[in-house]
Amino acid sequence: MQNTEQDLMEKVVSLCKRRGFVFAGSEIYGGLANTWDLGPLGVELKNNIQQAWWKFFVRSRKDIVGIDAAILMNPKVWQASGHVANFNDAQVDCKACKKRFRADHLIEDALKDVKVEGLSPDDLSKLIKENNIKCPSCGENHFTDVRQFNLLFQTYIGPTSADNAPVYLRGEIAQGMFVNFKNVLSTTRKKIPFGIAAAGKAFRNEITPGNFIFRTLEFDLMEFEYFIKEDMWKEKFEYWLAEMHKWLENVGIKKENTRVREHTRDELSHYSKKTVDIEYKTPFGWKELYGLAYRTNFDLSNHAKNSGEDLNYFDELTGEKYIPHVIEPTFGLSRTLLMVLLDSYTEEEVKDAKGNTEIRIVLHLKPAVAPYKAAILPLMKKDDLVAKADEVFNFLNKYFALDYDVTGSIGKRYRRQDEIGTPYAITIDFDSLKDNTFTIRDRDTLKQDRVKFDELKPYLEEKIYG
Ligand code: GAP
Repeated sequence: MQNTEQDLMEKVVSLCKRRGFVFAGSEIYGGLANTWDLGPLGVELKNNIQQAWWKFFVRSRKDIVGIDAAILMNPKVWQASGHVANFNDAQVDCKACKKRFRADHLIEDALKDVKVEGLSPDDLSKLIKENNIKCPSCGENHFTDVRQFNLLFQTYIGPTSADNAPVYLRGEIAQGMFVNFKNVLSTTRKKIPFGIAAAGKAFRNEITPGNFIFRTLEFDLMEFEYFIKEDMWKEKFEYWLAEMHKWLENVGIKKENTRVREHTRDELSHYSKKTVDIEYKTPFGWKELYGLAYRTNFDLSNHAKNSGEDLNYFDELTGEKYIPHVIEPTFGLSRTLLMVLLDSYTEEEVKDAKGNTEIRIVLHLKPAVAPYKAAILPLMKKDDLVAKADEVFNFLNKYFALDYDVTGSIGKRYRRQDEIGTPYAITIDFDSLKDNTFTIRDRDTLKQDRVKFDELKPYLEEKIYG
């Protein structure tokens, strides 16, 4: 069945709430704009994607190691990295209703074909005035001039803010890797080229136009800094772009829904010499999913200068000493979660037991990232079937995340599992009591296999991770 773009977004949002992937943040107090909580299925999906990423980019390679750095860092880090001075969004206030907007979003929404990347605040103000753009909230056209607002969230250490300088919640996790460059180098004895990876929360005090969990105040990020000699940058940039595409395939995002877009010179972040975004075709247009940046040696040089530490790398083979350059692949984890859901959602027409047409909603998630790997379904709520199902559950749940469902017809239970992307459903029927075999139904092919108790674990392992 065809979904219109808008329908698809609404359906995925509704599924997320209905089945416990995502809830509005602080909902019983009326929520807090642009904050979301992950429910029981959402947290499994997120953790599975993060673990798959870690396996793909860290554990399966000899040249990348991971760290887990603190969210709060010495504020000098953010001075040195340029974020205090340059990590800004151009924003504008409506004088009539007092609402604040990102100037680029306001203009691009009002003037469909205008691209505003890289324009100065003055140019943006001019565009708003000349085109008589109205406030989307109250319809007036009384805006302030466009001004730059810093995106770093500030907080204070200690009981009062009065005597303390502000510290920042990290706006990117990259800085934790730069400030630990020397620690990692001396403890692991890695040789260039090598990478440091991390995953965790980042915070940005930005205005967001909605779109569910696409742009939020706090979000999960996974990224690595790949340290190189300057002359390697072009080759490594292409190499990592290709690896990022392999990862997209690995996590189950369709190639036709992604494209690569290079940043214009004006659009580049303050630290970057070249950046490309991998964009995803969302129901609200092509949007950035991942980024790949050549950060030169901007960060390490600035940290060396500001901290007084020697952050040079010494090449024992050639005798050269230099501050390494960096290629940075960055992956929004929260965005990956949304894109994986949008990408895998389908509705299919099927016949029920009486021959009536009904809609089967399926999340065709890759088994490795699905919240539950299998559902254990006793055919009926009879003591002996339930006891056998418990035995299967208690054995398999040592190895796999499982759901257990005993209520409703078997058809209804299959549908409930299809809708949350459970790849395998294991039914315990009367034959199971006689010969210890079970039916395993495949979510995508609907094919059923009869499998012996002893073969359940290797069967699932092969199908999910094989
Ligand atoms: N260290 C580089 C860096 O942070 P970025 O392009 O600013 O680069 C990286 O952000 C990724 O983080 C983006 O590609 C996007 O997936 C995700 N991201 C950025 N801002 C976000 C937000 N407000 N909400 C959710 N995800 C966000």
